[in-house]
Amino acid sequence: MSDTLSNFIQARFGESVDVPERLERNVELIGLAAHRSHRAFTGETVSPALLRTLLAIAFSAPAKSDLQQSCVVQVNDRTVHERIAGLIPSMPWIADAPVLLVFCGDNRRIRRVCELRGTPFANDHLDSFLNAAVDTGLVVAGFIRAAQATGLGCCPLSAVRNHAAEIGEMLGLPDHVFPVVGMVAGYPAKERRITPRLPLDAFVHADRYDDGAFEAWIESYDARRHATLPLNPDRQRDPGRFGRADFYGWSEDKARQVAVSEREDFGAFVRSKGFRLD
Ligand SMILES: Cc1cc2nc3c(=O)[nH]c(=O)nc-3n(C[C@H](O)[C@H](O)[C@H](O)COP(=O)(O)O)c2cc1C
Repeated sequence: MSDTLSNFIQARFGESVDVPERLERNVELIGLAAHRSHRAFTGETVSPALLRTLLAIAFSAPAKSDLQQSCVVQVNDRTVHERIAGLIPSMPWIADAPVLLVFCGDNRRIRRVCELRGTPFANDHLDSFLNAAVDTGLVVAGFIRAAQATGLGCCPLSAVRNHAAEIGEMLGLPDHVFPVVGMVAGYPAKERRITPRLPLDAFVHADRYDDGAFEAWIESYDARRHATLPLNPDRQRDPGRFGRADFYGWSEDKARQVAVSEREDFGAFVRSKGFRLD
C-alpha cells in the first residue's frame, strides 16, 4: 500500500474519499489517519525531555472556557507502575511499558480559584464533570498524536477506571480530580495493522441524524473487518452463555462485551470525589 492519505482512509473505512491531491502526502494528516494503538514495546526508554515535550504539546489542546480542567500524573515510581499493572492482570503489557501516565479531569483547580478570589463556584452539576472529561479527552488525543509523530506508540487505558479508588489513592488524587484514562507509551515492538472502522456514514450525518442503513452498515463492516483483521475464533466471549457463533464478527464480539456490566461503581467513586452529577 502506498502511503497516501487516500489509502489510509480506504483501509480504515473501506471506502474512498475524494482527498484533495495536495493533501495526499501531508505528514500531519497521514499521521492522524494512520493511527493505531500499540501494546508491545521495545526496551528503549523514553527520555524525560521527550516526554515533557509531548505533554506540553498535549496540554496545548483547547479547553472549555479556558478553564483548563485536566492534568496528568506521570507514574515515574516503578513500584507504583507495577502495582497499577498488577490491578489489571488481563493487560500484562502495562507492566512492561516504559511510560505509564494517568490523565485526569481536574475540576479542583477552578474551585480553588473561586476560593482564592472569594467567589462561589455555582456550577456543581453534571456539565462541570463532563467539561473536565472532554478537556482531558482532547489532551489525550493530542498526546497520542504527538507521541506517534515521534515514532512512539501508545495505548489509552480505560481499565484504570476499574480500580479508580485504589489508583486514585496511590496517585494522591484529591477531591474533584478523577482518572479519565491511563496511557502506556514506548517504542513499538511490532507493526500494527490499521483497525477498520464502521462506514463513514455511520459517523457523519448530513443535516439530520439518520441510521436507516444501520443493519447494512453492521453487516458490511463485520465482513470487511473479518477479511482484514479477523477475531480469533477460539476466543469467543462466554460461549457458555451465548453459544458458539459460526461467524464471530465485530458486532457479535462487542454485543457480548457490553452484555457484561463493568465499572458500575464509577459513578459512586466520582460522587465520593465531591461531584454532584445532577
Ligand atoms: C478512552 C479509551 C480507552 C481505552 N482503553 C483501553 C484499555 O483499557 N485497554 C486496551 O487494551 N485498549 C484500550 N483502548 C484502545 C482501544 O481498544 C483501541 O483504540 C481500539 O481497539 C481501536 O484500535 P486503534 O486505536 O488501533 O484504532 C482505549 C481507547 C480509548 C479511546
